[in-house]
Amino acid sequence: MDLLTAIHQRRSHRGDFESKPICQEHLDQLIEAARWAPSPFNVQPWKLLIISDSESKNAISDLTELAIIEQFKDARFLDDNSRWIRFSEEEWMGERDGILLSDHLKLPPPFDRDPTKVKPILKNAGFLSFLGHLKAGKIPAKEISAQVRNSPVLILIVMDHQRRPPGGGGQRWMWLGMGAMIQNLLLTAAMLEIGVQFVSAPIERAEDRKSLGKVVNMPSSCEVISLLRIGYAKQVVQKSVRLDPSEFVCYESF
Ligand SMILES: Cc1cc2nc3c(=O)[nH]c(=O)nc-3n(C[C@H](O)[C@H](O)[C@H](O)COP(=O)(O)O)c2cc1C
Repeated sequence: MDLLTAIHQRRSHRGDFESKPICQEHLDQLIEAARWAPSPFNVQPWKLLIISDSESKNAISDLTELAIIEQFKDARFLDDNSRWIRFSEEEWMGERDGILLSDHLKLPPPFDRDPTKVKPILKNAGFLSFLGHLKAGKIPAKEISAQVRNSPVLILIVMDHQRRPPGGGGQRWMWLGMGAMIQNLLLTAAMLEIGVQFVSAPIERAEDRKSLGKVVNMPSSCEVISLLRIGYAKQVVQKSVRLDPSEFVCYESF
């Protein structure tokens, strides 16, 4: 597969995975791709923790569940999210950004038939935090945490502050290196037909990142950056949208 095909075919995989484990040869290829990413001063600030053991997966799944329940109580979080939610494919294709609600939440009837009906309710979602306090987050929390638990492999992506490059911008440069490393991994996964999903819920809040670190005995110089769940995809996901180049590319001057 050539590079541009892998770039176009890479999609976030939100469905279930085949139950078979990722073979070592494929894991080695993902690691090799990550290894050769660029980083400032070649500091290579990353660590990858590959998790396939059920005990750790269960603990991370439990943390994910709790984090989502808490997020649904947080008015600001709900408001921030609602800006980027698209309620129908038509709206999504028109805006060419944001996420399609039905890809992320199974809506109860009658909203499942026409998700645009929840748009007026969710457009200012902050006031719905009272539902979160009534544990409304439990339904998506159960669903997503089960996906985490049932994934053949989780990859915890960690940044090691001991490998900080020199200069005032050190931390920012490290983050750029981390992004490049993750993209190498994602594109290689796409090439190998391995599905990947970012699971950001247990990464959002500092206390959850700390708990995650504890579960896996993370050294104190390290910071949790991201959690990926990976597996062989049951079905190929094709849908996504992007801005037109005319909306983000300028020539010579802004
Ligand atoms: C830093 C980061 C965090 C993300 N967090 C999540 C997440 O928690 N759950 C999820 O389903 N997708 C997550 N995504 C995936 C994006 O939603 C996705 O890349 C975007 O909607 C474009 O879709 P595509 O990847 O299928 O092209 C994340 C992506 C990035 C880069």
